[in-house]
Amino acid sequence: MSDKKPTNPLNLKNPKLLQQASFINNEFKPAKSSETIAVHNPFNGKFIGSIPSLSVAEIEHAVDCALMAQADWASKTAFARAKILHAWADLIDAHKEDLAIIMTSEQGKPIKESRGEIDYACSYIRFFAEEGKRIYGDILPADKDGMRYIVLKQPVGVCACITPWNFPVAMFARKVAPALASGSVMLVKPASQTPFSALAFGVLAVSAGLPKGVFQVITGKADTVGQVFTKNANIAKFSFTGSTEVGKKLMAQCSQTVKKVSLELGGNAPFIVFDDANLDSAVDGLIASKYRNAGQTCVCANRIYLHTAIKDEFIKLYQQKVEQLIVGNGLDETTDIGPLINQATMDKALTLMQNAMDQGATLVTGGQIHNRSKLCLTPTILDNVNENMDIATTEIFAPISAIYHFDDEKDVIRRANDTIFGLACYFYTNDLARSWRVSQQLEYGMVGQNTGLISTAVAPFGGIKQSGFGREGSKYGIEEYLNLKYWAINID
Ligand code: SIN
Repeated sequence: MSDKKPTNPLNLKNPKLLQQASFINNEFKPAKSSETIAVHNPFNGKFIGSIPSLSVAEIEHAVDCALMAQADWASKTAFARAKILHAWADLIDAHKEDLAIIMTSEQGKPIKESRGEIDYACSYIRFFAEEGKRIYGDILPADKDGMRYIVLKQPVGVCACITPWNFPVAMFARKVAPALASGSVMLVKPASQTPFSALAFGVLAVSAGLPKGVFQVITGKADTVGQVFTKNANIAKFSFTGSTEVGKKLMAQCSQTVKKVSLELGGNAPFIVFDDANLDSAVDGLIASKYRNAGQTCVCANRIYLHTAIKDEFIKLYQQKVEQLIVGNGLDETTDIGPLINQATMDKALTLMQNAMDQGATLVTGGQIHNRSKLCLTPTILDNVNENMDIATTEIFAPISAIYHFDDEKDVIRRANDTIFGLACYFYTNDLARSWRVSQQLEYGMVGQNTGLISTAVAPFGGIKQSGFGREGSKYGIEEYLNLKYWAINID
């Protein structure tokens, strides 16, 4: 048997898209030493490849390259930058199938969701390519004779971000696109579980004509990269998507160089179904919210509040549909739910579920490790959950629906808000007055009414409380990458 590594382990049409390297200054650099990080397919544990674990000096070198690139990139017109960004999006589109295979292989999500995520990432690149052309300044009415006041909006400079494994491309696309469109440059550190998707975007960035140093992919240990990204004084802006715990540490580290910071952290989304709701539509919305990416999203329904008048009917309808979801290898076209990312995530889910059941929650369906993979959990419904259980205060990040009951609107709003998190929330009602009351009182950055899917490039994504600050997407998202400069002129 040959011990040679397969040259095209994922059977890609374009094998060059799988780069076992870092991407610095438009070059793919394989590891210099044995310092590498192995990447495995979470469904079957198969080795996909490895990436370099860069040293501090190598990461600092990439920051220098970014700094070198900054001025030239900022001096281009927004129209010239948009042209390159659109070319990048077109190439991503053209290679969607290979990119989806890479994503599903390293992340596990169903291939149809990977295709959807690639479209979602492209939508940020295209939206911000255009939004970059609409960065207006201001002329302010003067309060003194002979004075003129002008406000300029300028690119923030060198930016860096750390992004999570649950959305290997969309989470950096919505940071990179507004940065690049408005004249800044970006270093991305993708999660070590899912680096190949970001590196493949790097291959296409070169083909699209992105100049050296404008977009770089830094591979390595989270702590080492995080130290450089948060402490290097040449990095002006830092953005992070991930857990609240890690976000707090990174925010503290950024204080040393007083960076502009955006954080998209954990969530604990309530999903409230009132007694006047359309139940079929609420069931579909809940499935979309809860079981997308096997429940591994920050905006997943984490606490499902059902009005007691409709709970039995709702659970019956919901169970019927949940039991039809197909669990398995994400590469199979029919799969609806792939594996969890790793054993720790599975162990946490099983512990939360068992503890809840020990305290009185009832298992409606699921709760089993699926026979196709040790990381696949059958879609689970737990009823009679209450707020004294750990599952009520923890981001579940697994395909487990935790159901609570309520009778009264005020009470459910109080319970929904009783969390340190404030990212997304959902409610179903057709009552107009209630719609306004509830949406105004829910303490969240994003509210979905009569829908379980709220994510889009044209709207501001982000949270309040310990879910972070800053917005991604929409006209607000580009402001995070701009500095205001006030210019006072005495014309006398
Ligand atoms: C997330 O889970 O952090 C983001 C999900 C999304 O963009 O919909």
